[in-house]
Amino acid sequence: MCGITGYIGFREAKPIIIKGLQRLEYRGYDSAGIFLFDGKKLNVSKTKGKVADLEKILENKSTKGNIGFGHTRWATHGVPNDINSHPHTSQSGKITIVHNGIIENYDTLKKELISRGYVFQSDTDTEVLVNLIEEIKKKHNVKLGKAVQLALTNVVGAYAIAVFDVEKPNELVVARLGSPIAIGIGKDNSEFFIASDASPFIEYTKNAIYLEDEEMAVIKLNRDIRIRKIKSDSLVKHDIQELTLSLEQIEKGGYDHFMLKEIHEQPKAIIDTYRGRMLPDEGLIKMAGIDDNIDRFLNAKRIIIVACGTSWHAGLVGEYLFEDLARIPVEVEYASEFRYRNPIITENDIVIAISQSGETADTLAAIKLAKSKGAFVFGVCNVVGSSIARETDAGAYTHAGPEIGVASTKAFTTQITVLSLIALKLGKENGSLSTSDFRAYLHTMQLIPSKVEKLLKIDAQVKHIASVYKDSKNCLYLGRGFNFPVALEGALKLKEISYIHAEGYPAAEMKHGPIALIDENMPIFVIATNKGHYEKVVSNIQEIKSRAGKIIAIVTEGDVTVKAIADHVIEIPDTEEAFTPLLTTIPLQLLSYHIALMLDKNVDQPRNLAKAVTVE
Ligand code: M6R
Repeated sequence: MCGITGYIGFREAKPIIIKGLQRLEYRGYDSAGIFLFDGKKLNVSKTKGKVADLEKILENKSTKGNIGFGHTRWATHGVPNDINSHPHTSQSGKITIVHNGIIENYDTLKKELISRGYVFQSDTDTEVLVNLIEEIKKKHNVKLGKAVQLALTNVVGAYAIAVFDVEKPNELVVARLGSPIAIGIGKDNSEFFIASDASPFIEYTKNAIYLEDEEMAVIKLNRDIRIRKIKSDSLVKHDIQELTLSLEQIEKGGYDHFMLKEIHEQPKAIIDTYRGRMLPDEGLIKMAGIDDNIDRFLNAKRIIIVACGTSWHAGLVGEYLFEDLARIPVEVEYASEFRYRNPIITENDIVIAISQSGETADTLAAIKLAKSKGAFVFGVCNVVGSSIARETDAGAYTHAGPEIGVASTKAFTTQITVLSLIALKLGKENGSLSTSDFRAYLHTMQLIPSKVEKLLKIDAQVKHIASVYKDSKNCLYLGRGFNFPVALEGALKLKEISYIHAEGYPAAEMKHGPIALIDENMPIFVIATNKGHYEKVVSNIQEIKSRAGKIIAIVTEGDVTVKAIADHVIEIPDTEEAFTPLLTTIPLQLLSYHIALMLDKNVDQPRNLAKAVTVE
């Protein structure tokens, strides 16, 4: 995925675009570029590297302009280098484009254009699209908007694009299919902003329109925005949305990294997620998405959870929650496997799709497949108005606030919070939970944020453990029951930001293979809280000890047995077993953060990754 932002209006475009690109850099950061129109010609600057590298190039250029757009890239077609960076310009030099997505049939289109005399500079699918637009414009003698529309009807794939033509210097054309585009509207249409999300223009306007799939907009300065369906050509009217996002939410707020800020935001994020939904004193959980569809949930034969990455781990916690608290059978699927497996789905199934970004291509495709087979699809998303939020039949937002660090932290705990609420509610409604147990769970859940707060204070201890194990080449993470997914998540956090190989396993599975890896150089992080399978995990720890492995155990306050055997222990406050993942995950997040920092890695923007994976 990539980030796009642009401006047309009365202000100097460059600083707005550069700041916008910095805010969108979480979407991809292997190259960056900008185009500015100085009233006569297109001025394009682009480079491999980050927005900071682009800024250095721009220091030596005096180009100005009130119209322009920029791009921060996560490479799909063509390696990250200067030439493959966006924007791409048509052969005549008149039309320029930035693109987020993939043109799947670019090869066929490219061959056709080559036969018509086009010569390509880059390996990208995007350069094919801009030349296709140029070719159609010439061939059909049409203006930019029509040429973009016709070109897109020939395209297979996904896109969010912004296009400019020197022959139409007062307009920008944008379009979307599968990748987001927000349009910020200035006062009296005197300026417009475009971006992959609203963060680049939040200090300029709170009014925005979000394009739907297969829509395009021609944005005319001092006039209006005309939105139409790409295929049917019909005009569409969108309500202007008032943005609730604040500048504070998208800045680091005194923390060195977004990841650290987001780890520390978890107590508040969990409260924000259950606020207004969980009413312990009244013994109630109110969730519109569930209440409105309660019969479907109560009659569901099973729940299938689809997600990717960390969201998939939250889904696994969800499986334990639903089965334990509501006695509903659950299957948890990688969205990428589910969509290609010809899965058996019936109208009596409920599919829950979990996604922080709401833009993950595989999850979106899994939703579409499930819907086509008649299943009811419920979304658990963080980004309001995202593609997944719109595509699902009903849903519940997590209220984590913007998550910018690529490594997911508060999204995970708030997803678990939503899944806990749903499981408790269904358990209560279907009689699996007694009223008194249900109420007790709610009161216990209400104490979780203050326990997370307490855990965040053990930072110095975690930092010490990080310093001991930071040079390890491999790590194992073990957990059982509700905490098996936390072991997977702990391992994912470590590998994605520190590049240390790490594996998560159900503790009992260790003896079926991974035990062969254990020696005195292998740190093993074991979640051994006092509920569930404590004795069994203690036996697993003994097995590790006998093979000289280093044990870092996460235990419940007051533990004695594990403390006597482990090399290091981290204590978490006591709680119900079902809620322990909300606590055990915190030290593992901090540990990964500190190790990555000690290894001098880019914590917020780890190599090869992007925040939302909008390609298959
Ligand atoms: O936006 P989503 O929750 O759908 O994203 C899914 C994964 O790409 C994401 O969780 C990824 O695994 C994170 N980088 C993990 O920290």
